[in-house]
Amino acid sequence: MSSTSRNTSVHDIVLFSAKPYDRAAFDEANQALDAPLVLEYLDTRLTEQTAPLAAGATSVCAFVNDDVSEAVLRTLAEAGTRLVAMRCAGYNNVDLDAAGRLGVTVVRVPSYSPNAVAEHTLALMLALNRKIHRAHNRVRDGNFSLDGLVGFDMAGKTAAVIGTGKIGVIVARLLWHLRCEVVAVDPFEDDHLRELGVSYVSLDEAFQRADIVTLNCPLTADTHHLIDEAALEAMKPGAMLVNTGRGALVDTNAVLASLKSGRLGSLALDVYEEEGDLFFEDRSDEIIDDDVFARLLTFPNVLITAHQAFLTREALTAIAETTLGNVRTVTAGGTCDNVVDAN
Ligand code: NAI
Repeated sequence: MSSTSRNTSVHDIVLFSAKPYDRAAFDEANQALDAPLVLEYLDTRLTEQTAPLAAGATSVCAFVNDDVSEAVLRTLAEAGTRLVAMRCAGYNNVDLDAAGRLGVTVVRVPSYSPNAVAEHTLALMLALNRKIHRAHNRVRDGNFSLDGLVGFDMAGKTAAVIGTGKIGVIVARLLWHLRCEVVAVDPFEDDHLRELGVSYVSLDEAFQRADIVTLNCPLTADTHHLIDEAALEAMKPGAMLVNTGRGALVDTNAVLASLKSGRLGSLALDVYEEEGDLFFEDRSDEIIDDDVFARLLTFPNVLITAHQAFLTREALTAIAETTLGNVRTVTAGGTCDNVVDAN
């Protein structure tokens, strides 16, 4: 528990899934406040079993893989929690209907650093294309052969950006600067992208035309398994798929089959459907019992990072500052723009 000047045994916020980098950013942002809050950091994920650990805290802070289901919200609400502060943009893991019924306000950080996520998306794309992950291992092992490391020029290729919100717009601009032909799919078109020459097309057309498909839309009922067997069949043979959005945008079994058949050219993931039981922990001395994930790791043309696209100093600072601001505003009875509700 961080020390503060407030003399109380009751913490203001219990932060679940709190890693050292979260603690550092929150401590710094908290100490900069005129009246720092009392923060309690818990390494554990928020689940039905761990929810009672927050008893007495008005506010609970959770992250992308925490369980904010009805059962968890009920336990929290019965023990006095009135606010769940998501320290992320996505809130697909929150049962907003249940929160509303239970009188629990939910806030989030709608934008902390779209650049961080967009830049990681590009990093994955470029590394996968030029096989940097394999080249790095080879050189460290004294293997200077270039066989199997042939990539392609990004310039002149067609890239489809699915979702041109805060992150997707930057991804599209970065790809445009690489002189890709950029097509976009989004019900809301971005004027600046259109001025650059980005054309908005249907999902089918994007799949047909793109050498690279990048997923930058939120996970909703509509986008669940956006990339399924039919989508993979519609995509150009040999295309690259990049997902830094949410794991369940992709039907992993369908992707696995397409990789095995050689139809999907390559795959970069920062998110995975079943990442909740894997990511954010050191499992290097454990047996991975997720056979789908383990199989994905065997492909030379698959590059995976463990949900780190957000992980820059700037993003962590912005997340901490916005989250503390959200909590202070809501608990003081003010109007907070970052409240999310079921509507
Ligand atoms: P945003 O809300 O600014 O933009 C999302 C865009 O997707 C909107 O323009 C929306 O119209 C569009 N969209 C919604 N449904 C669509 C569909 N069916 N087809 C095409 N477009 C659709 O969100 P932002 O900030 O750009 O973030 C996007 C997503 O990225 C988040 O929802 C989150 O899941 C993910 N994310 C991942 C992070 C990571 O560390 N890997 C970090 C932050 C966000």
